[in-house]
Amino acid sequence: MLFSALVAALGATVAIAASTPYVPGKAFDRFFTIWLENQDYDRVIKNSYMKGLVKEGILLSNYIAQTHPSQPNYIASIAGDYFGLNHDDVIHIPENITTVVDLLDSRGISWKGYFEGIPGPGYMNAASTAKDGSGWDYVSKHNPFVSFNSISFNGTRLANIQSFADFDDDLKKNELPQFAHMSPNMMNDGHNTTLEYAAVCTDTYVRSLLKDEEFMKNTLLLVTYDESETYSQPNKIVSILLGGAIPKNKKGTTDETFYTHYSILSTLQNNWELPNLGRYDVGANVFDIVAQKTGYKNHHPSSVAPLNNSLSYAGALNNLPDKWKAYPTPNMQLIGAGGKGIERTTKLNWVTREKDTTPYDGTGQVFDGGNGISDLNMPFYKAQAPAPNITYPPHYVVGGKNSAGRLRGFGGRWGVFGWGVLGVWVVCVF
Ligand SMILES: *[C@@H]1O[C@H](CO)[C@@H](O)[C@H](O)[C@H]1NC(C)=O
Ligand SMILES: *[C@@H]1O[C@H](CO)[C@@H](O)[C@H](O)[C@H]1NC(C)=O
Ligand SMILES: *[C@@H]1O[C@H](CO)[C@@H](O)[C@H](O)[C@H]1NC(C)=O
Ligand SMILES: *[C@@H]1O[C@H](CO)[C@@H](O)[C@H](O)[C@H]1NC(C)=O
Ligand SMILES: *[C@@H]1O[C@H](CO)[C@@H](O)[C@H](O)[C@H]1NC(C)=O
Repeated sequence: MLFSALVAALGATVAIAASTPYVPGKAFDRFFTIWLENQDYDRVIKNSYMKGLVKEGILLSNYIAQTHPSQPNYIASIAGDYFGLNHDDVIHIPENITTVVDLLDSRGISWKGYFEGIPGPGYMNAASTAKDGSGWDYVSKHNPFVSFNSISFNGTRLANIQSFADFDDDLKKNELPQFAHMSPNMMNDGHNTTLEYAAVCTDTYVRSLLKDEEFMKNTLLLVTYDESETYSQPNKIVSILLGGAIPKNKKGTTDETFYTHYSILSTLQNNWELPNLGRYDVGANVFDIVAQKTGYKNHHPSSVAPLNNSLSYAGALNNLPDKWKAYPTPNMQLIGAGGKGIERTTKLNWVTREKDTTPYDGTGQVFDGGNGISDLNMPFYKAQAPAPNITYPPHYVVGGKNSAGRLRGFGGRWGVFGWGVLGVWVVCVF
């Protein structure tokens, strides 16, 4: 009796949830992203299966991951910073650090995380052998959500962390959320296997989605690697935009705009007029296919030429004692790609710190932890302020041998400030 009452109650809840209308976006109504593991751009781009997928969508040919190893890249994609993280161990990020979930909540946009092989909703352990029959690994380092206390301390949110089997159910029932991050298990994402193995799995999986009319409905699907494989090379990865939101005439094209995982956040903001997190999400380029529809102006950051993105900069999650630094205060004066200011909870959490300096300046400048010898691109802190107007010339080359680009990159107003900080840093270290 009790059980049937519960089922009835659940049924009622589901019915309400299902009837909640989608919040329409300017360029898509649904954004899904599927994450693969650890491959260099130059190898992926030669794989026949991945080449086949590129023909169905848009290749993002200038997409740079944030750092190594895996976990910080996942964290960055939903929080707008990786807070110095330089390892894959279990982490707990304080409740006052907000994420994409807070942004989506602000407009009532539904979201979920789907993780292949996760033993149950909201599972919090570091890893598990799947109980869904595949016998392969689920790992929390490939699940950005569970590391944030602002998600894991909240039962409603935790319940949104589900499995690939739950995804199948949601698709069948026509109850997909409007935003989802999906991570295959350690075999299918290529972590424990090979580029070829994961490419075959991805091709099969993604093609089945591309054939599904319900899934395709005004959906933008980003298939991306988390990071490159070769740490000594700049961290360039293959990312592909697919789905029903891609017009026919864009299929098989290449977009050379500079992107990072922060572009996911700025694209969501731009599409749904969302507020921002006051971190590196502000200033990150919006996927061009969306920017074209909204009239948003992308720009090349000035710091791209010497960019390496192989080592993590200092921060609260860095496990090297000399690289610890407190969580930075968000810049509460930034306007993001959604045309809105900082998200309400984020502001409430940090409102007493309006006088703090911050590394987030809304320019889209990219920072890294250097090359182990020197660091031309470490974050620098300054007073919170609106983003300056950006006038950087285009055509910066990642990991550049392009000395003209490098010189011009450091010639501007912010570049001068950068050298000042660098000077101090060099004195401290050497
Ligand atoms: C995958 O690799 C990890 C080590 O990175 C190992 O612990 C795990 O057992 C492997 N899983 C499978 C299914 O091979
Ligand atoms: C818990 O999550 C729900 C759904 O995201 C949200 O509406 C609510 O404000 C959260 N509660 C707290 C205390 O953060
Ligand atoms: C945010 O939380 C951390 C960890 O609890 C704390 O050190 C920091 O002071 C908090 N920030 C604010 C503005 O309260
Ligand atoms: C990038 O940083 C890595 C350190 O992880 C270093 O091995 C490599 O030489 C650097 N590359 C360049 C071009 O500086
Ligand atoms: C940016 O430029 C616009 C007009 O070109 C101007 O109104 C605005 O004040 C400028 N903002 C800053 C922060 O310089």
